[in-house]
Order: sequence, then structure tokens, then C-alpha cells
Amino acid sequence: MKIFIDTADIKEIRRAARAGLIDGVTTNPSLLAKVVGDANLADYMKEITDAVEGPVSLEVLATDSEGMLAQGRDLAALADNVVIKVPLTEEGLVATRRLRAEGIGVNVTLCFSASQALLAAKAGATFISPFVGRLDDISHEGMEIIAQIREIYDNYGFDTEILVASIRHPLHFVDSALLGADIATIPPAVLWRLVQHPLTDRGVEAFLRDAEKARIEIPSAQEAEA
Ligand code: E4P
Repeated sequence: MKIFIDTADIKEIRRAARAGLIDGVTTNPSLLAKVVGDANLADYMKEITDAVEGPVSLEVLATDSEGMLAQGRDLAALADNVVIKVPLTEEGLVATRRLRAEGIGVNVTLCFSASQALLAAKAGATFISPFVGRLDDISHEGMEIIAQIREIYDNYGFDTEILVASIRHPLHFVDSALLGADIATIPPAVLWRLVQHPLTDRGVEAFLRDAEKARIEIPSAQEAEA
């Protein structure tokens, strides 16, 4: 399963890229609004697209298909790895077909049902983003639609990739992998929690303590040869 980072924070994106943890980035207008400040938006977006090799989702603000198409073309011109995020509305599906016909990648976002996901795949979406956390928030089992979408896409051989979004905790990540999702997009706070385990930390401390007590040091290559 691929991992995308779900943030527009360039420091977090660079940190995760340095650690070799991420295959791409997803942003949305709310995430950009948190970090962009007075910076030029196009420059800021370019910094993000330069920071990773994989796809970077940038979302349109227009709500009509013509507007989405125009904004999508502008965003796609920023860098080769830009994927256009459009909402799963009637207009969004029209824009998806047209952007795809122009060879531009599309991430259909704000998906909350398997039927919506089927329509996005038929429109040729590159990625479908079902929001599991927001479904959990309204007492629907978010992960259920991931299982349904996986089965439907496999039934018909759709190549639209399932990009699990609105991930809130490590179990969402594990369940995404168990259900065969293609990608999980993970906010930085959750991503770093995936790396950590208290037993790992305790184990490292104990090994270092024991080595220090016994005055063990790793021999250099020259010492090992002598
Ligand atoms: C990513 O593509 C989505 O915009 C994001 O995961 C939404 O997450 P949220 O529901 O925590 O805002």
C-alpha cells in the first residue's frame, strides 16, 4: 500500500520525504489555508511539488465544470506531478471526464458512498478519496465503504486507485491495508505515531544501558581489519 501525507505543511512534507515514508501528498483548501500565510500560493504549491517525486493533489475551488476545468489546467501547469482534486458532484464528474481526456490526473474527493465511488471510476478518476473519519464522525462505519469499493472495483476491473482519506488514527491505516486499499493519506501526527512503539523505545534504551555498563563500543572498520 502506498502512503501519501495529508498536509500542506512543507516542513512535515520534507521530513516525511527524507525518512522515505511517502509516495505522494494530498492537500485541500483548508490545509493550505492553515499554512500559506502571505506567501505566493503558486510558489508555495511549487515548493510542495518539488519536495516529492510522487503525485501531489491540489484542489479546485470552482463549483461548475467549466471553472473546474480552467482551474485544473492552471494547477496542472505548475508541475508534472500535480493531480487535480475535484469534488464528487455532478459538475465534478463532468470535469473529471474532461480533465482525464486531456491526460490530466484527477483525484475525486469528498466521496462518502460506494455508489459515488463507482460513478467516479466510470468517469475515469485516477484516484477516489473516500473520507472514513468524517463517516465515523456521524456514526457510520467509514471502513465499510472501503471494503465495498474494493469489491466493486475488482468486480469490474476499474483501475481507479482507492485513496483512503480523512484518516484519524493508526487503526484506520492498518484496516486500509487489510482491506486492500491502494493508498492511505495520513496526517503528519498520525504518520509519526505509526513509526513509534513504546517497546521499541524501551528496547533501545536497555541495549544502550547494557552496552555502556559493559563498555562495549562498535569497532571501526580499521579496528575490525587489524
Ligand atoms: C484528503 O484528501 C482529505 O482532504 C483529508 O483527508 C480530509 O481529512 P479530514 O476529514 O480530517 O479533514
